[in-house]
Amino acid sequence: MKIGEAKELIQVKAPVFSRRRRVLANAYNVEEYRKSARKVLPAGIFDYLDGGSEDEVTLRRNRAVFDSWALMPSWGPVEGPDTSTALLGRTSALPLTLTPTGATRLFHPEGEAAVAAAADRAHIPYGLAGLSTVAMETIARSHPGLDRWFNFGLGSEPKAAKDKLARCEAAGFTTLIVGVDTRALGARERDLHNGFTAPPALTLSTIADIARRPSWWVNFLRSEGISFPNLDPHSAAATSMVTPSMWQHILGHSDASSGWKELEELRQAWQGKIVLKGCVNPSDVDKAARIGLDAVQLSNHGGRQLDHMLSPMDVLQESRQRVGDSLEIYVDSGIRRGSDILKALALGADACSIGRAYLYGLVAAGSPGVGRIIDILADELRRTMTLVGVSSVPELKARGGEILRDLRSSGEILETTKSGNN
Ligand SMILES: Cc1cc2nc3c(=O)[nH]c(=O)nc-3n(C[C@H](O)[C@H](O)[C@H](O)COP(=O)(O)O)c2cc1C
Repeated sequence: MKIGEAKELIQVKAPVFSRRRRVLANAYNVEEYRKSARKVLPAGIFDYLDGGSEDEVTLRRNRAVFDSWALMPSWGPVEGPDTSTALLGRTSALPLTLTPTGATRLFHPEGEAAVAAAADRAHIPYGLAGLSTVAMETIARSHPGLDRWFNFGLGSEPKAAKDKLARCEAAGFTTLIVGVDTRALGARERDLHNGFTAPPALTLSTIADIARRPSWWVNFLRSEGISFPNLDPHSAAATSMVTPSMWQHILGHSDASSGWKELEELRQAWQGKIVLKGCVNPSDVDKAARIGLDAVQLSNHGGRQLDHMLSPMDVLQESRQRVGDSLEIYVDSGIRRGSDILKALALGADACSIGRAYLYGLVAAGSPGVGRIIDILADELRRTMTLVGVSSVPELKARGGEILRDLRSSGEILETTKSGNN
């Protein structure tokens, strides 16, 4: 070997001292961002983000279900592939949305503002939580071109609901996401064991944690206290720092009294689009179509609410068969790979939505971390589309049945992702 040739083989990488840049350079998939997030967050906050309810059966199932569908490529030319698609009448660069996650500033000081910036750069919709820690008007001002969706809760008294709708409209939010899976709060036992409070109370164990996770604590203590500015502006939690007891009160105050009648009234009152989020029952999807909603987001809240609940993937085909093309269907809960998105689209979804995946990116590397998560999923989706032999999202949806083989029906279930998120 000549010296010139040998030189090409020597690749000494300069050490990267910034943790954020190290993660951005060296984490190649969502799970690696998750591991990095675990190293950054205090254990109780990581568990709040990562955990599920009760025995976490649904949480594990959300991952395992994807493994029971195998891919069957077909040979032929592929162009592109083009991942762009129309969602609720607007073009999205990917069949992907960022779904609402409340209290995002608990995970990173920039919170929802950092997530919105990444969604805007990636040209995909972002759903802002009702319990967001950044005001909807701030997001609107900073990201006028972002397709902004808002997590609207039923059950407010009529005047407050009317004011909230007016606020959404004035801030240019195109779409309401109405959650129907929080009639009671799921029992997240990790949080009970950790004595989790938000904001974290100063106990002996928190003081010990400060030594283990100093950078998170410095950032948290230096940034403004957490409030929920999208709540009714007259409520204390909208204008002043939320205390642990206020947090408990707000989360524990679930609305179990609303139903289809209230949804129909909302349909009359709101001129924009409405997405029903949190059902897995095909007859609910049917009803949503009949009352003129625009989309349904099949979801079990990422396994955080009703344990033993079905996964959206279990009911996707039946839901699509019931409603045809009369409304759009999205899927969340457990999406961690581009191939998950491909499988969902092949079974009849129009798009997928991620919660924890982008939060891992946010914790690990701020807004660029969220951007990396979106890029990773986009790259994985493009590569998987190429390898299975489809060139576009419409082609994927049309030929979905040829691409997937259900291992459960053929009795070939593999021993796979047993531990789910652990
Ligand atoms: C920390 C956290 C907070 C959440 N907050 C909300 C919320 O305020 N409103 C809502 O509809 N769903 C909320 N969700 C559920 C997500 O919108 C979504 O359904 C779920 O995260 C999808 O599963 P995945 O995390 O496996 O992607 C939250 C999820 C997490 C992880």
